[in-house]
This record gives sequence, C-alpha cells and structure tokens, in this order.
Amino acid sequence: MKSSAKNGSLLALSSSPSTGLEVRLAARPVGLPNLDHFDVVEVDVPAPAPGEVRVRNLFMSLDPGMLMLIAGGSSLPMPRYEVGEVMYGDALGEVVSSADPSLSEGDLVVHRFGWREYAVAEASAFRRVDKAAYPSPSMHLGFGPVAYIGLMDAAGLQPGDTVFVSSAAGATGSMAGQIARLKGARRVIGSAGSADKVAHLTGKLGFDAAFDYHDGPVLDRLREAAPEGIDVYFDNVGGEQLRAAIEVMNVHGRVAVCGALNRQSTARPDEGPGDLLNVLGKRLTIRGFTLWDHLDRAAEFGEQFRDWLREGSIVYDETVISGLESAPEALLDLVRGRHTGKTVVRLGS
Ligand SMILES: NC(=O)c1ccc[n+]([C@@H]2O[C@H](COP(=O)([O-])OP(=O)(O)OC[C@H]3O[C@@H](n4cnc5c(N)ncnc54)[C@H](OP(=O)(O)O)[C@@H]3O)[C@@H](O)[C@H]2O)c1
Repeated sequence: MKSSAKNGSLLALSSSPSTGLEVRLAARPVGLPNLDHFDVVEVDVPAPAPGEVRVRNLFMSLDPGMLMLIAGGSSLPMPRYEVGEVMYGDALGEVVSSADPSLSEGDLVVHRFGWREYAVAEASAFRRVDKAAYPSPSMHLGFGPVAYIGLMDAAGLQPGDTVFVSSAAGATGSMAGQIARLKGARRVIGSAGSADKVAHLTGKLGFDAAFDYHDGPVLDRLREAAPEGIDVYFDNVGGEQLRAAIEVMNVHGRVAVCGALNRQSTARPDEGPGDLLNVLGKRLTIRGFTLWDHLDRAAEFGEQFRDWLREGSIVYDETVISGLESAPEALLDLVRGRHTGKTVVRLGS
C-alpha cells in the first residue's frame, strides 16, 4: 500500500480542512487483494459549488461485498471499483460547508462516499439522519435493515419457525438471529468460526444453539442443533453451509441468500447448493435479495430497532477501527474472521 502526500508530512497535512485522504484501488488483484492493491492518497478538497455540500466523514462501513467490487466481474447490482479511482461505500459524516438550502452545517448525513475523509457532491446525494437516534452515530451504518428485509421479505419469517443463521457473530448475522427471536422464531441457531464467537452467540446474543463450522461436517453439527429441522436459513456464506441447510430443511422451508462469504473469503467460485432434488421434493424457496431493492423498508426497521434498544431486548455489536489508512487491512481482516458485529472505520480525530 502506498501513501502519498501532496506536500510535506502526510500527518500534518491530513488535519488541514482543505485537503483530505482517500483510498484508491491501485491494481485489480487475481484472487484476494493484499495491501499493495490499495493506495492512500492526499487530495485537495474543493469548496462546494452551488447546490453542493462538503461533508467531513466520521465513520465508514466495511462490507465483504467490497471484495467483489475490487475483483470486478460480479453480478452485484452496483459498479465495480476502477483502478486508479477512489473507492466508495456507505459512510456517515457531518456537513462542514453547504451551498444548498436543504442541508446546513452541522447536519449529520449518510451517503455512499466512503473511503475518503471528505466528500463534496450534490446535496441530493446525502440523506440527513437524526443525531439523537442512537447511542453512537456509527449505528446508522448498521446492517440491521439487511437482516430485517432478508428475514421478513426474502424468507417470509413466521412465528414458530426454526431459523439458522450463518456468520452469525457478524454484522448481518448478529442482527438476523436477534430479530428472528424478537419476531417469534421458536428456535434460533447460529454458526461462526471460533469457540469464542459460539459462546458469544449463546451467551450475549441469546441464540438457542450455536456451533463452530470448522468442527467437523456442518451437516452433522446442524442436525444436532436442529433435531426437528429448520424452516428458514439466513445464508451469509453459501458453500457447505448452504448445502447442509437445504438437507436439513423442513417442507416449504425458505432460504434468504444474503451473502457469499465462502466465495468472498477465498475468491474462488462457490460449488453451489448441491442436489436440487431436495428443493423440488421439499418445495423449498431460495431467494437472493439486496438491501438496495428495499430501501423504503429501512425506516420501518429503524423504528422497531430503536424500541428494542430502549427496552434492552437487542444487543448491538460493533468493531471500530481507527483511521482511513487502516481501512484496507481492516477489510482483509473482516473476512479473516477477526471482527465481531458491524465493522466500521472511525475517520479523523
Ligand atoms: N444482500 C445485501 O443487501 C447485503 C448487504 C450487506 C452485506 N451483505 C453480505 O452479507 C454477508 C455478511 O456481511 P457482514 O458485513 O455481515 O460480514 P460479517 O459476517 O460481519 O463478517 C465477515 C465474516 O466472514 C466470516 N467468514 C469468512 N469466511 C467464511 C466462511 N467460509 N464461512 C463462514 N464465515 C466466513 C468470518 O467469520 P467467522 O469467524 O465466523 O469465520 C467474518 O467474521 C457478506 O457476504 C456481505 O457481502 C449483503
């Protein structure tokens, strides 16, 4: 990873309000990226033109899906990152200069201009959020809405369902398991990649059962955890866990395909769902979904989420990494299983 300053010391200049750091894709990797595939560059931050605002980013989100935008060539409904250009992603910032009446200095906004300390763009590209909504503003970047839409819309969760969630200690998984319980699931089972995470799931997050997917065949572990079968699988992973879930599913079971960590963490094609005779015989539904198709439901989730937080019936986990320069390594660490909950990068001081 290269870092370049326009003049003099990078640290001294990065505190100047007229310049800021951004992360660019330096080269497209074959397989997984390493730090050489990222450049951290200091750039001028222009004053906003009429109709624009300048935003100082406070937090940015990291998502394993970014690895697919780095690789390019995926079927995700969003543009890949281009070599030599700044990357993008969800971020939360504060308006520091406004040339548009719809936003004022001091407003807190969410937007898609992550991977940079400052963003300057048309005011309509930013959405103002309530400063008092959550204990930490970083929670505006949480993946609760993803989990909610996956369970309610893609999987059609019903009270009494038995629900299995993979990567259950992560950003979407930790929310999916808890939301399933709050929405009346009879039994919630999670998988994760270490004994500590498994203990966290059944301890702090209230899962009924959990297992480490490295501990022998997933099919055996899932059968033990769900002796009466599962009705819903919230799939963050694909691969062996998807095949095991289909095997253990009850008649009319539903799979919500949220992510592809098996592929994202190895950069190898996934072997897929296996013998589809099970899908036919048990009349299963396997449905992919993205948050972007359901953004209108995010507010509905937000209201319920704030109620659950007030009641103390939901736990919000996050891993906070400091500094934009640390973001590339943190993205790689995310799929190495080194974080729990939602991973965000705190920008600036
Ligand atoms: N559909 C949508 O709209 C949408 C929106 C956001 C995110 N997503 C996707 O949802 C998935 C989860 O995202 P997230 O941000 O919540 O990530 P996450 O679960 O917080 O973090 C990634 C996790 O990957 C796990 N991992 C790596 N290789 C694995 C494997 N082969 N099998 C199981 N787990 C593996 C690691 O945990 P372990 O220690 O457990 O291995 C790591 O903690 C990603 O695929 C992401 O792209 C989809």
